[in-house]
Amino acid sequence: MKREKKAILLAHNYQREEIQDLADYVGDSVELSRRAMEEKDARIIIFSAVDFMAETAAILNPDKKVLLPSLGARCPMAQMLPLETLKTWKARYPGVPTVLYVNTLAEAKAECDVTCTSANALQVVKNLDADTVLFGPDRNLAEYIQRRTDKRIIPIPERGFCPTHQLFLKEDIRLAKELDPSAVVMVHPECTPDVQEIADFIGSTSQMCRYAATCRARSFIVATEVGLLHRLRKENPEKTFLPAYHAALCPNMKRNTLELIYRSLLEEEHVITVPRAVAEKARKAIQRMFELANTR
Ligand code: 13P
Ligand code: SF4
Repeated sequence: MKREKKAILLAHNYQREEIQDLADYVGDSVELSRRAMEEKDARIIIFSAVDFMAETAAILNPDKKVLLPSLGARCPMAQMLPLETLKTWKARYPGVPTVLYVNTLAEAKAECDVTCTSANALQVVKNLDADTVLFGPDRNLAEYIQRRTDKRIIPIPERGFCPTHQLFLKEDIRLAKELDPSAVVMVHPECTPDVQEIADFIGSTSQMCRYAATCRARSFIVATEVGLLHRLRKENPEKTFLPAYHAALCPNMKRNTLELIYRSLLEEEHVITVPRAVAEKARKAIQRMFELANTR
């Protein structure tokens, strides 16, 4: 059916194993945005992920049909910075540029200067011509950047967070390390600062995949959503990957199932659209991210 309908299936690294195995491309949020932007031949993009990622694909591909298999797959972090809250912060700091994590709704992206992902947030902020930056909605990612730059980072809202990455505890990772002292600890920057503190490597989901492939260690403790373990194990069968917390699941990412993907393609639902005026402004902020970030 994918072939017949000229459809391409893009899946985030947190998707269920069987979806990752069927996908044409599996990646982190910046890779998926790039892949969606570079897509030439497909008529339909089935985006197996959450709302803001499918919206980003729709913004970058106004001429394609972008489908989200489960309409309920909504990232709670993206809901933490509604447009009105963003406008209030911007009014409080006139002239200060706003950098928004892609985990935001399209209408918020349209009001920011540049977007970023966990893979390129630090570079985007460093390359931006400003000493002070409004950054949201993830406070942990904001603090990750703050510790690596002299610029002033103002988190907006004050405490935006990812409920899944909030589940990781330093103590759990310490216990796992006691069982395997040679294990390397990989942590997503959405984890709390004290969890980041004990990491050997901090990066986006795909950056973790690249690090694990090149690192000489044989075992890894992984502090991000457990869906990534499938790809890590598949790409590195000779290495061992342990979840830092076995129940760290993103219920929204997991709403997509093979059956919903099948139905989504069959019925060509649910089509994700972004009003043209919003999309045009948001596209500029996303394109600026690609200009300012020079890492993968
Ligand atoms: P990545 O860009 O690292 O894949 O992260 C997306 C995300 O939603 C993490 O929770
Ligand atoms: Fe949102 Fe967290 Fe789920 Fe990522 S893991 S989609 S940030 S709730």
